[in-house]
Amino acid sequence: MNATERQEDGDGQAGAGQAGDGQDGDGQDGDGQAGDGQAGDGQAGAGLPGVGVGPWPGGVDAWPAEPWFDPELLAAGDTRNVIDRYRYWRMEAIVADLDTRRHPFHVAIENWQHDMNIGSIVRSANAFLADTVHIIGRRRWNRRGAMVTDRYQHVVHHEDVAAFAAWASGAGLPVVAVDNVEGSVAVDRADLPERCVLLFGQEGPGLSAEALAAASGIVEIRQYGSTRSINASAAAAVVMYEWCRRWA
Ligand SMILES: C[S@@+](CC[C@H](N)C(=O)[O-])C[C@H]1O[C@@H](n2cnc3c(N)ncnc32)[C@H](O)[C@@H]1O
Repeated sequence: MNATERQEDGDGQAGAGQAGDGQDGDGQDGDGQAGDGQAGDGQAGAGLPGVGVGPWPGGVDAWPAEPWFDPELLAAGDTRNVIDRYRYWRMEAIVADLDTRRHPFHVAIENWQHDMNIGSIVRSANAFLADTVHIIGRRRWNRRGAMVTDRYQHVVHHEDVAAFAAWASGAGLPVVAVDNVEGSVAVDRADLPERCVLLFGQEGPGLSAEALAAASGIVEIRQYGSTRSINASAAAAVVMYEWCRRWA
């Protein structure tokens, strides 16, 4: 469904609820770190009280010697939103460790309107251990939903769909478009290659015609209610989960 059709839905709700589905205007977008530390993902000692762990028990004499431990975190405690395995680890050490076991799927999203979902998609990509997230279109993206997980996730920018498609082709990665449009196949029945890029669209317009044309296949998440679609970041989480169910 394109934007014009959406306006013509005829239910008196045309456009209603769409504009608020994650557009910008919150001043949080861009390359800054707005939102950092809000969930305890910030630096040592930052974050929510009662979340995470306090200073390493026993004081400095009891500190572990391994190089991945961060003295600041050992001293002040670690309230970042990281799994227990990474408590007190330096951020670079966590990224290096993740890099040894990343999954071979990538995630891409079109970014023409500063969709707020991009941050949440980056967070899910981190959780499901995607290789890299590709932002197509505007370089600045809304980081609020990422809750600082972008620091642990490789994120690459592509000027436009053509540049993204050229990169994917060069890397030998099939592009799997994710949208509920004509011709899409239910993701639970579709081929989902182990090495691939999962490409998502924005709230409102969904995937552009160019993006759909760049894909080797289109998959959708089956729905059963009255809404035309689910939230883009929810869709991304479902499909990443489905990839992990098959391959991880
Ligand atoms: C608001 S939806 C796009 C519009 C949708 N094609 C429509 O007709 O309303 C935004 C994005 O979320 C993802 N999405 C939402 N619901 C989906 C579903 N049921 N299946 C696959 N992707 C979905 C897609 O990536 C899509 O581009």
